Amino acid sequence: MVKQHKIRVGVIGTGIGSYHIRAYQKLPEVEVVAVVDLDSKRAKQIAEEYGIAHSFSDYRKLLDLKQIDAVSVCTPNFLHAEITVAALQAGKDVLCEKPMAMNTQEAEMMVKAARQTGRKLMMAFCRRFQNDSQWLKKYIEAGELGEIYYAKTGWLRRRGIPGLGGWFTTKAKSGGGPLIDLGVHMLDLVLWLMGNPRAVSASGSTYAKFTDLYPLEKGTLDVEDLACALVRLETGATVFLETSWVSNISGDRVYSSLFGTKGGADFPPLKIYTEKHGKLVDLEPRLPEISGYDGEVAHFVECILQDKEPTATAEQGLEITRILDAIYESAETGKEVLLR
Ligand SMILES: NC(=O)c1ccc[n+]([C@@H]2O[C@H](COP(=O)([O-])OP(=O)(O)OC[C@H]3O[C@@H](n4cnc5c(N)ncnc54)[C@H](O)[C@@H]3O)[C@@H](O)[C@H]2O)c1
Repeated sequence: MVKQHKIRVGVIGTGIGSYHIRAYQKLPEVEVVAVVDLDSKRAKQIAEEYGIAHSFSDYRKLLDLKQIDAVSVCTPNFLHAEITVAALQAGKDVLCEKPMAMNTQEAEMMVKAARQTGRKLMMAFCRRFQNDSQWLKKYIEAGELGEIYYAKTGWLRRRGIPGLGGWFTTKAKSGGGPLIDLGVHMLDLVLWLMGNPRAVSASGSTYAKFTDLYPLEKGTLDVEDLACALVRLETGATVFLETSWVSNISGDRVYSSLFGTKGGADFPPLKIYTEKHGKLVDLEPRLPEISGYDGEVAHFVECILQDKEPTATAEQGLEITRILDAIYESAETGKEVLLR
């Protein structure tokens, strides 16, 4: 049913959640009416800063508010499944931060809850909504790269562990290190650009070589600091993925390369390599700046208003989660893991 009134939203978790609040507040058709953070002082402070009527430390209080149509789940990874399922069951549409969940079992529960309740569940894969990704998707859909048979993607940091000692570096709360944190974005991005073919197998390695660099007085660091993987797809195409929080490289790198039969693409910055009239041609599209966060939030709201299925679906989130699980399993067993 198409909504007649302003969309009323709540944001749960106020780290990256504050980006969601700002993105919602740019949209005249949306009102942010409540915010939640386990840290009640922070919740109150954010509510005051952004002029939000309600603040809570318990997400259930927000879900009890009947007037709320939709929520952003922006809590640490181990709470995504619990809060998303509760929100769907409370009749709210959900935009859930990446990674979808800690593991496949949780992601399946989330997909099931979305199907049973009929509510929308969108994954916050913000990289899809950046200017280069949006333009490249259209270019690919027009057949300009031909068949994409290989993709290479990576997000490597020289020194960049988020929240050292806290939930990010505690496997029981994050599900893993850079693979689930950064790799999830890059894997989703290239698979989406390739038309979301399903994976048939994954082979990966993970390393934790720098733990001694970070002696902790309190907290935990028990996740990998580098992961690499080879994922084979049902189309016969292959994806190579690499990601690190700590590695001895010249500097941080975020890159993707698509290899197609009619053209190739490197980004960011986006460059297209093709052949026209017997000559090699390089293209550099001039694109306006768009924030991925603003784009994803605007898309979520548009889907609610127009009762459309979001493009970053729960099923796609589940597929990515399956692949990540398979990479971790392969790293542990030293064997390729078959997915179907
Ligand atoms: N899309 C992106 O580019 C992007 C960037 C950063 C983080 N993230 C994702 O967003 C999520 C949050 O990451 P972050 O960087 O904001 O982490 P963070 O630790 O900075 O912030 C998380 C917030 O959630 C609050 N919180 C914890 N438990 C809660 C609960 N039970 N109820 C309500 N609030 C609770 C914490 O108090 C904290 O303020 C993670 O899943 C992360 O992977 C996505």
